[in-house]
Amino acid sequence: MNHLRCDQTQAWSALSEYHALHGEGMDLRHVATNDDGHQQQQAGIEAPEVFADLSRVQWDDQTLALLLKMAEECGLPAQRDALLRGDLVNLTEGRAALHTALRAPERATPHSKQVHDALDHMLVFADAVRGNQGHVCPPGITDIVHIGIGGSDLGPRMAIAALEPFTHPALSIHFVSNIDGQELASVLRKVQVASTLFIVASKTFTTQETMANAHTAKQWFLDNGGQDVSRHFVATTTNVQAATAFGITRTFGFWDWVGGRFSMWSTVGLPIAIAVGSRFFKEMLAGAHAMDRHFASVPLSHNLPVVLGLLDVWYRNFKRYTSRCLAPYHHGLRSLPAYIQQLTMESNGKSVDQQGVALSYATSDVIWGEAGTTGQHAFFQMLHQGSEVIPVEFLLVKRPRHRDHVSLTPTVRAMLTQQHQILLANGVAQAEALMWGKSFTQSMNEHAPTASPTIAPEVIARHRTFPGNRPSLTLVLNELNPRSLGALVALYEHRTFVSSAIWGINAFDQWGVELGKALCNELLPSMVSGNTDGIEATSAAMLARLR
Ligand code: F6P
Repeated sequence: MNHLRCDQTQAWSALSEYHALHGEGMDLRHVATNDDGHQQQQAGIEAPEVFADLSRVQWDDQTLALLLKMAEECGLPAQRDALLRGDLVNLTEGRAALHTALRAPERATPHSKQVHDALDHMLVFADAVRGNQGHVCPPGITDIVHIGIGGSDLGPRMAIAALEPFTHPALSIHFVSNIDGQELASVLRKVQVASTLFIVASKTFTTQETMANAHTAKQWFLDNGGQDVSRHFVATTTNVQAATAFGITRTFGFWDWVGGRFSMWSTVGLPIAIAVGSRFFKEMLAGAHAMDRHFASVPLSHNLPVVLGLLDVWYRNFKRYTSRCLAPYHHGLRSLPAYIQQLTMESNGKSVDQQGVALSYATSDVIWGEAGTTGQHAFFQMLHQGSEVIPVEFLLVKRPRHRDHVSLTPTVRAMLTQQHQILLANGVAQAEALMWGKSFTQSMNEHAPTASPTIAPEVIARHRTFPGNRPSLTLVLNELNPRSLGALVALYEHRTFVSSAIWGINAFDQWGVELGKALCNELLPSMVSGNTDGIEATSAAMLARLR
């Protein structure tokens, strides 16, 4: 079905006019205090496991009303229903994008039987590795080396870091993704043949990096006395034939309707299941499913993925913000920015609509970030006083959860709890500083101990002024656990889909990664042989320099 693209809607024109009249000068501080007649429609939205504080978002009642109107005009509810029903929403590849089916209860969605059979198969194996059941997997496994890249790496890597307090204490999970052999070599230095299980994760089982790492790992295994590749190597893939040709007999399958960057819920989640066990893996799926239900059923105005997806469109197309900083104030979520980066930028970094027509408006922003408070000592200077406004997304987790171990005495525990309070206070303070800034007058009234005595106080005050009116969004979890992690990731998935639906683009293909891959294959023989005949001049010169 054809839907209106955002720029063809009446709401888009109204938003453009509204932005010209009010948006340009919209000041967060006035919106929040309601002293210019605009009132924040809603200070927050409560969704499963996630509360979103919208009080520092740079829009007002009227903006949101127009964005919601645009969502209706673009047929967002119908597009969402088509996604969840399993229609072929990935038009260019003629595929569904049914990652939601992977976390649905039995018999609730299309493909339920095969999904649950594959899930059970994977969970039995995961629990056997955890329980050292030698008849299912090699006995005495202590290390798992997970080889994959992109969507076959970032999800498990992120989730295992996030769920560290829930992981098996005697199992170490190592990740190898880069073609740079240094990464694999450094992991191989730490593991032993007899006690290592390799997981080769690749939807296609053709990806250059993954295949090269897998072949090198296999050679290392054989060269060091390993005998049973079929027991020490398993694969998570849709291409069972290629895995078999590699020498792997135990494969955990999934399907072409699972996009790589949406695949951590499928058997690509095997390392997560090994790390946390089947009970917690199912909890993660249940958290994601709760968010799916919210997305499917809550009216658009209170539907968190919808509201955040619309915010992304407002910021990108009207406020013209080019990037978004993710600042999770939780060490466990340190890999989340990289995960959301692929999810957002590979999904929505497109310049033509579903019909291939060139777009006249911007799509994906740049996603980047770092865990707090580390980022405060690196790039927050620019966020506060730089020449560009970058919306910041704070993620705060109310209760800490430290893995129990005997060396944590009651006093140390109390100190760690206090550190958590400092962490949260930092997150809130940064959002407050971005919003309110600091005026020249305030700065003049302060004593700056490190200021040079030879510089005039007015000059120092100008350096110490913060413009404020810098927007942020704060997402709050009560605790970081499998359920809340599942809900959080599903929130970002649906939010990404919402903006793609408004922009009229296909969030589920990734043709933009192909050209570089193809050219690499063409250049590689010249890199090896030194014969650059037929190679484009600038690349030929660089190859000559690199040899
Ligand atoms: O970089 C492109 C891409 O296809 C991603 O979409 C995907 O997550 C990654 O490569 C890995 O692909 P595969 O799982 O097929 O090895």
